[in-house]
Amino acid sequence: MDLTKRPRRLRTSEGMRKLVRETQISVNDLIYPMFVVEGSGVKKEVASMPGVYNLSLDNFLKELEEVHKLGIPGVLLFGVPDSKDEVGSGAYCDKGIVQRALREAKKVFPELLLIADVCLCEYTSHGHCGVISEGKVLNDPSVELLVNSAVSYAEAGADIIAPSDMMDGRVGAIRKALDDKGFSEKAIMAYSAKYASAFYGPFRDAAQSKPAFGDRKTYQMDYSNVKEAIREVELDIAEGADIVMVKPAMAYLDVIKVISERFDIPIAAYNVSGEYSMIKAAAANGWIDEKGVVLESITAMKRAGAKVIITYFAKQLAEWLKG
Ligand code: PBG
Repeated sequence: MDLTKRPRRLRTSEGMRKLVRETQISVNDLIYPMFVVEGSGVKKEVASMPGVYNLSLDNFLKELEEVHKLGIPGVLLFGVPDSKDEVGSGAYCDKGIVQRALREAKKVFPELLLIADVCLCEYTSHGHCGVISEGKVLNDPSVELLVNSAVSYAEAGADIIAPSDMMDGRVGAIRKALDDKGFSEKAIMAYSAKYASAFYGPFRDAAQSKPAFGDRKTYQMDYSNVKEAIREVELDIAEGADIVMVKPAMAYLDVIKVISERFDIPIAAYNVSGEYSMIKAAAANGWIDEKGVVLESITAMKRAGAKVIITYFAKQLAEWLKG
């Protein structure tokens, strides 16, 4: 036994542990996802996501005030429209639910970062992230609609455009359209390595965006792959992405790590709905300590190399990090 080396010395007290702590999460890292719906007075809890709501604009503004007071730098907006169609018109209509939410939010909280998720699945009757012909999701015609949606969100006040559809070439097409319209300052946070994941289940309840047929495997990535994630990130950076995302987060820490070692660009990790619901369910049963598990798993995402963490736990985390 060689006891001249004693690693436990650096663990003897909280002071010592704080001194040598390598990774610290901060409220500055957090983004809170929110779901806006039509109507007024609506605050409907998502059955599979306790503490997460579908909010009409009045209640959305109330929750935004909370988010803002907690010091969370930004929110990621998803829209749940009343009516859907084959081509997802709600995603690029000037009076769309997210467009209206952005305008209201920008007026009341000009400093809060507003991030608009750009995708068609919440707006299409078939629930796919692009347009369909003969049962196939078409790439290029979908990109055209996604570009319209991105420009319309920029016009409505979004600070960051976040395409989550996984069509090829959409980042470059969106960048060009934004620049052409005078929005060169609007940033793009690309969902670059977005996997076809069973962890999105509860989100699809929240956004009513479950595909009516088939799955998303022809556009979202195969979870067996990591080199493919590198290629996707490389392309998105070349096309003009300012922040690249890995999604989901907890089961994909290796992907976050590889991307962060390879690219000098801020990385976002999306701690997705299924990850949230699992922790909530286990905690509700008294099987795990919610705060402990959340702090540990979010720290792991940052340790792996993520700077931005998108999480439904953002408000709780902001409270805990104060203490
Ligand atoms: C839209 C989108 C999804 C999520 C974010 N943007 C759903 C999907 O791809 O089916 C999932 C987020 C989550 O699970 O929290 N395409």
